[in-house]
Amino acid sequence: MSSRKKFIAGNWKMNKTPADGVALVNDIVAAVGKQSDVDVVVCPPFTGLESAGKALDGSNVKLGAQNMHFEASGAFTGEVSAAMLRSIFATHVILGHSERRTLFGETDEVVNKKVLAALKNQLRPIFCIGETLAERESGATLKVVQTQVERGLDGVSKELATQIVVAYEPVWAIGTGKVATTEQAQEVHAFIRGLLVKLFGDAVAQKVRILYGGSMKPANAPELLAQKDIDGGLIGGASLEARSFVELVTAAAAIK
Ligand code: PGA
Repeated sequence: MSSRKKFIAGNWKMNKTPADGVALVNDIVAAVGKQSDVDVVVCPPFTGLESAGKALDGSNVKLGAQNMHFEASGAFTGEVSAAMLRSIFATHVILGHSERRTLFGETDEVVNKKVLAALKNQLRPIFCIGETLAERESGATLKVVQTQVERGLDGVSKELATQIVVAYEPVWAIGTGKVATTEQAQEVHAFIRGLLVKLFGDAVAQKVRILYGGSMKPANAPELLAQKDIDGGLIGGASLEARSFVELVTAAAAIK
């Protein structure tokens, strides 16, 4: 059994007004705010971060953003910096989500700059990688994931690597209802763990949490979360309702 603490993060994407977000956080905190078996993070859109942060204050639930710029400040209209996120008590930030990569043109190089900037500012990256359907069908999955990991984590020190949470999200499984089979997911997770061993050594690699993302929900989570190298989930759709999100936290807590 793994000594890594399970990790469940809710990626709300472009959903929820600040008021709706507070209502959701209140329900989550009431149900699982005191448990400490699983690390729980909610990631509202920028407009809802501060109010959600206040609502979860005093609980064990943590606050994450969905993106940030790698520069500290300046003429970057529409962007926010790591220090700005820290100032409202965010502890985590999702970086390199496939929607950022495909819809907003983020390259591995940009994602890498963001990872380094987040770490420099004591923000923990939830670093996302994953192959498209075409890449999987052409047998390129492991190669794609390897490139994303090597480029995205370039220059990260061994000391800071344990702060990173990796999220493997096959693009074809995101928001589609098509979940990867446990075998497909575990194969890639084990491969990623091997890449982390090469980059940072075994001791560090054994500490890094690797999440699965892509249509994870209470019905399929227990089997996925029971796999040796699947340390939690990055949850989109099922994080928008307290009941399903709480069930996912409970499912993760049940795995010993
Ligand atoms: P999904 O999204 O759970 O709705 O598939 C996951 C994600 O994109 O992080």
